[in-house]
Amino acid sequence: MAKFRADPSPSKVDLGVGVYRDLSGNTPVLASVRRAEQAVLAAQTTKSYVAAAGREEFNRAVEEMVLGSDHAARRERRARTTQTPGGCGALRVGAELIRAAAPTVTVHVSDPTWGNHTPLLGSSGLRLERYPYYDPATHRLRFDAMLERLDRSAEGDVVLIHACCHNPTGADLDPQQWQALAQLLARRRLVPFLDLAYQGFAAGLEADAAGVRLVATQVPEALIAISFSKNLGLYRERTGALIAIGENETRADAMLSHMLQIARSAAIAAHIFANPGLKGEWIEELTAMRTRIADMRALLAQHLHEATGDAAFDFIRLQHGMFSLLGVSVQAVERLRDEHHIYMLADSRMNLAGITPHNVAYVARAVAAVNPRGPG
Ligand SMILES: Cc1ncc(COP(=O)(O)O)c(C=O)c1O
Repeated sequence: MAKFRADPSPSKVDLGVGVYRDLSGNTPVLASVRRAEQAVLAAQTTKSYVAAAGREEFNRAVEEMVLGSDHAARRERRARTTQTPGGCGALRVGAELIRAAAPTVTVHVSDPTWGNHTPLLGSSGLRLERYPYYDPATHRLRFDAMLERLDRSAEGDVVLIHACCHNPTGADLDPQQWQALAQLLARRRLVPFLDLAYQGFAAGLEADAAGVRLVATQVPEALIAISFSKNLGLYRERTGALIAIGENETRADAMLSHMLQIARSAAIAAHIFANPGLKGEWIEELTAMRTRIADMRALLAQHLHEATGDAAFDFIRLQHGMFSLLGVSVQAVERLRDEHHIYMLADSRMNLAGITPHNVAYVARAVAAVNPRGPG
């Protein structure tokens, strides 16, 4: 980020930082959020503390958005939700909960996974291991290897799963794969820890929760870490939640009492969720963000196809959310930065929201120049 800021080139392109950007390169305040902010401000009569678990109406709305209105875990009163400071807070509280309940378990994370998963989960003292997930050579999931590895893990181990828009690969499970994974988790008594940070960025609010809902019907216990940083554009408000599903009401209550150490206001999000007009407006804005990313995926794939003369980068079109691994070497990433002013992470994770119709041809030509034969 510092190098990008210091680069004086007028054609510089930032595909590194993980926030949504619109066609003009801005990370806007959504109109629905602005309206909710004004309403919350006007109605606010106190800055006193909210309840330990946060706002009741927020927690209920989050459970409904994530699990649906008629999920068995909610009907059977086995779901407990607390506000957290963003998705990071949810992951951290979840890690502490796991550590308190089962200090010796291993948490299995995908290879690769979001860089912050390791510090967030590892710093509570949990042992982490990687399961195969993505094959950089084919740009596809290593699903059989993933199941094979998880099938060999110990009963009670935790499996961290990206619910949609996998970060950094953009490669998600399909419905049959979710079914097979859910069955394996249930059969091997593994505990899913689902990380839902991009609900609405792949196919829509409902569709993107389908995997989470399925898994949560097949296993007795699960944790779900939720972030509203991206889909509501509430990055600095640190709005998130942790849902814990227990085997029975008593277990669920015990989980909640552990979770109550951290609580924060989620007034803006709660106001949007409770107001059908604003919620509709927000869903339209979310759809516009999703569509823009999908459009840029298609456009970049097309330009890369033209610039390189083959279909090696077409996979970008098929993936979900803001991120994909371009699949080029560290040297190519450095040349993109030093010779072409295009910035991405060293593993070639790029943020597709940094692409615009204005810079796409430039980016494609630069990629073709440093990596003429497509990803390695
Ligand atoms: C996979 C994943 N999980 C969780 C988060 C955390 O989100 P937040 O910014 O709300 O803490 C992110 C943010 O980049 C993410 O990519």
